Amino acid sequence: METVRKGPILFGEVVPEAGLKRALSMGRGDLIAEIRASGLKGRGGAGFATGVKWNLAAAALGPQKYVVCNADEGEPGTFKDRVLLTERAHLAFEGMTLAGYAIGADTGILYLRGEYRYLLSGLEATLAERRQKNLLGDEVMGKKGFRFRIEIRMGSGAYVCGEETALIESLEGHRGEPRNRPPFPVNTGYLGCPTTVNNVETLALAACVMAKGAEWFAAVGTDKSSGSKLFSVSGDCARPGVYEFPMGITVAHLLKEVGGEGAKGVQVGGASGHCVPASQFGRALAFEDASTGGSIIVFGPGRDMLAVARNFMEFFVEESCGQCTPCRHGNEVLLEGIEKMRAGTCSVAHLKELRALCETMQIASKCGLGQSSPNAFLSITTHFPDEVLGRAPRA
Ligand SMILES: Cc1cc2nc3c(=O)[nH]c(=O)nc-3n(C[C@H](O)[C@H](O)[C@H](O)COP(=O)(O)O)c2cc1C
Ligand code: SF4
Repeated sequence: METVRKGPILFGEVVPEAGLKRALSMGRGDLIAEIRASGLKGRGGAGFATGVKWNLAAAALGPQKYVVCNADEGEPGTFKDRVLLTERAHLAFEGMTLAGYAIGADTGILYLRGEYRYLLSGLEATLAERRQKNLLGDEVMGKKGFRFRIEIRMGSGAYVCGEETALIESLEGHRGEPRNRPPFPVNTGYLGCPTTVNNVETLALAACVMAKGAEWFAAVGTDKSSGSKLFSVSGDCARPGVYEFPMGITVAHLLKEVGGEGAKGVQVGGASGHCVPASQFGRALAFEDASTGGSIIVFGPGRDMLAVARNFMEFFVEESCGQCTPCRHGNEVLLEGIEKMRAGTCSVAHLKELRALCETMQIASKCGLGQSSPNAFLSITTHFPDEVLGRAPRA
C-alpha cells in the first residue's frame, strides 16, 4: 500500500536546495512571477492558483506574516501527503521557505495530522539538518535580510481542521471551527496576520518549479492543470498505493495502471468528491474535469453502492462542526434517507426532496465541508439508480 510508483516530477530527479538557491538569487516579485508562469494550482482540493495566493499575501500589510503547510490530510482515501512527508520532506520544507521569502514571512508552521505523530521525530531531524546547513535560520543560504524558521504543530484530530480557517483557529488554541470569509487568511490569518495556507504537495511542487523552471513544469499536464499529481489509490484494485501521474490522465488509464479494470465506479476526491460511473471513465483527472485533491477509491462490480453512500454520510454526520444548520442537520437527514433506501421504504418523491436538500446544503453551508458533503449522495443516487431505489415504493 505504501509503494510509490516513480513519477515525472516529485518522485523524479529534482534535487533539494537547487530551487531555494535559485529563488534567493531572484527578487520576490520574480519568484512569484515564476510560480504564476508555471500554472501551479493548489493540490489541497480547491485548486487555487498558488502564485496568485502568494502575491495577495505579499501585498497584504502586517508587521508579521506566516506560512502554513497544511498536513492535516483528513479526506477519506487520501494518504499521499503522508508519503511525501516520509520520502520528500526536504521538498515540502523548501517550499515553505520559498513561500516565506515570497510573501515576506519569517515563520512557517507545519500543521501535522494528529495520527501522523509517528512522523514527528523524522521531520524534526530533517528540520535540524536544514538548520545546520543554513537552509533555515538567520540569513538563509547567506541571503541578507531573510531569516526563516519552521515549527511543527500537531493537529487536533478533526477532519474540519483541514479547512484553512478552522486550521488557523486550531493553531490559535481554539475549537477547530471555520471562520467567515472574507476576510481571507492572506489578509487576516494566524493571529490576525497575513498567512498563506498551502497543501504539502503544493509546496513540494513549488520547490520543484524553482529548481527546474516554470516551462519544465508546465510541459507536463494540461493547459489548465499543469504539472503532475499524486494520487492515493485504494479500494477494489490489484495495486493500491500512491502514484504520480501527469495531470489530465483519464480515469480509465489510471485504472489500467493500478489494476482496477472492471470497476463499476470510482470515487474521485474522497468522501467529499464525486462518484464517476464506468460510462464516464474517459474523463480527465484535472481541475477542468474530474477534480481531486488526490483521493481515488475504486469500486468493483460487487460493491454495494448504498453501503458506500452510508459510510460517507456517517463520516460527515460525525465530522460536521455543527456551526450551521444546513450541514449539521442536512447530513443527518441524508443519512436517514439512505437507511430508508436500504430498508426499501424511501419513495421516489422522498428521494427528490433529499436531492433538493443537497442543493440547499451546497449553497447555504458555511464552509467546504457542508458544501461538498452532498456530492457523493448526489452522484451515487444519479449513477446507480437501480441499487438505490431497487426496492422503493413508487409513490
Ligand atoms: C473540510 C475540509 C477539509 C480540508 N482538509 C484539507 C487537508 O487535509 N489538507 C489540505 O491541504 N487542504 C484541506 N482542505 C483545503 C484547505 O481549506 C485549503 O484550501 C488548502 O489547504 C489550500 O492549499 P492549496 O492552495 O495548496 O491547495 C480542506 C477543506 C475543507 C473544506
Ligand atoms: S458547513 Fe459544517 S463544518 Fe462547515 S461551518 Fe457549517 S457546520 Fe461547520
